[in-house]
Amino acid sequence: MKSSKSFNFEPFEPLEQCIKPTFNILFTNNVISTQNLQQEQSFILKFVALIEIVLSFNHKTMKVTVVGAGAVGASCAEYIAMKNFCSEVVLVDIKEGFAEGKAMDLMQTASLNGFDTKITGTTGDYSKTAGSHVAVITSGIPRKPGMTREELIGINAGIVKDVTANLVKHSPEVIIIVVSNPMDTMAYLVHKTSGLPKHKIIGMGGALDSARFKYRMAEALGSPISDVDGMVIAAHSDTGMLPLLSKATRNGVPVTEFLSDEQQKYVVEETKVGGATLTKLLGTSAWYAPGAAVSVMVQAIACDQKKMIPCSLMLDGEYNETDICLGVPAIIGKNGVEKIVNVTLTAAEQLKFAEAAKAVREVNGDLKF
Ligand code: LAC
Repeated sequence: MKSSKSFNFEPFEPLEQCIKPTFNILFTNNVISTQNLQQEQSFILKFVALIEIVLSFNHKTMKVTVVGAGAVGASCAEYIAMKNFCSEVVLVDIKEGFAEGKAMDLMQTASLNGFDTKITGTTGDYSKTAGSHVAVITSGIPRKPGMTREELIGINAGIVKDVTANLVKHSPEVIIIVVSNPMDTMAYLVHKTSGLPKHKIIGMGGALDSARFKYRMAEALGSPISDVDGMVIAAHSDTGMLPLLSKATRNGVPVTEFLSDEQQKYVVEETKVGGATLTKLLGTSAWYAPGAAVSVMVQAIACDQKKMIPCSLMLDGEYNETDICLGVPAIIGKNGVEKIVNVTLTAAEQLKFAEAAKAVREVNGDLKF
C-alpha cells in the first residue's frame, strides 16, 4: 500500500484523482464473501464517504488556466477535467463568447463523464485567471498542411508574449506550460519575457512526441501500446525530433531486438512527422494527443508525481547546450521542473541533438523581445 506521504503536499493538496490509487489498493486487499457482499459494499461506501469528508477539510484549490479555447485548448481542458484532479479550469480566448461557450459545453458533460472540476470561460479577462497554479498557453495560429511549425513564429511570438505578461500579472507564482508553435522557441520567449524562474516554464512537445513514438512502435511490433516504452527528445520539429530508439523497450527488452532496420527507420521517420501527417489529414493541427499530453503534465504537477517526462526546458550546460529550450527528460512535480535527467546518448544521438539545437537557435534568432 502507498504511504500516506501524499496527504501532505504543498502548495496545494492533491484532489480526488491523486489519492484514488490508495483507495483502490485498499479495496483490492479486501476479501469480500458473496454472502456478506451487500453489507460489505455499504460499509466500504460509508468508509470512503467518511474519508472524503475528512480530506475535504484539508483540500486546497488547484486552479489551471488554459489560454486559447480552440481545439487544442478545449481538449486540454476536457482531459484535465475528466481526470478530476483539479478544482477549477479557466478557459481564455479573444474571440467573443467562444471560451464561455466551450466551457459551458464541457460543463454539460460533467454529470455524464463524472467529474467535479469547474470549467469557466472568459473573453480575454485575465483577472478571472488570478491565482492560477498552472497556465497552459495554446494560443496563436495552428499550422496548415505543408507548413512547418517554424513558419508560425511571426504571428505567434507576439501573441505568446502578450499572453505571458497577462498571466504573470494575475498569477505571479504560476507554472507555465507552452504549447504554441514553434514550441521550443515560444518556450524560450517565455523564459526571456516572463521573469519567472526557469523551473516554472515547461514546453510541451516531448510528452506528445513520445506518445506518437509509442504508437508507431506498437504498430510496427503488432503489440498493444502498453507493451512499449520510449522517449523523444531534442526539438519539437519535423527534422529536429530525436526518438531514442536505442533506449526504447518492449516490456524491458530493447525494441531493436524485435524490429528490422527498415522497421526501425519507419518508426523513427513516422514519429518525426507525426504532427505533419495529422495536419495533412485534418487540414489543421492535431488536438486529442496534444490535449492528453498536457493533461499528463498538469497532473504530474498537481499530484506531485515526480514523473519523468521529456519537456522543452531551458538548458544551462545539460546535454552540452546553454541558453536554449530543447526537449530533455525531466522530473515533473509540484514545483514544475524538479530536476533535468541526464541520459547517456550514443555518439550519433549526441550529434543529432546538437544539430537540432543549431536549427532551434536559428529560429530563436528571429525573436524580438
Ligand atoms: C502537434 C502540435 C501540437 O505536433 O505541435 O500536433
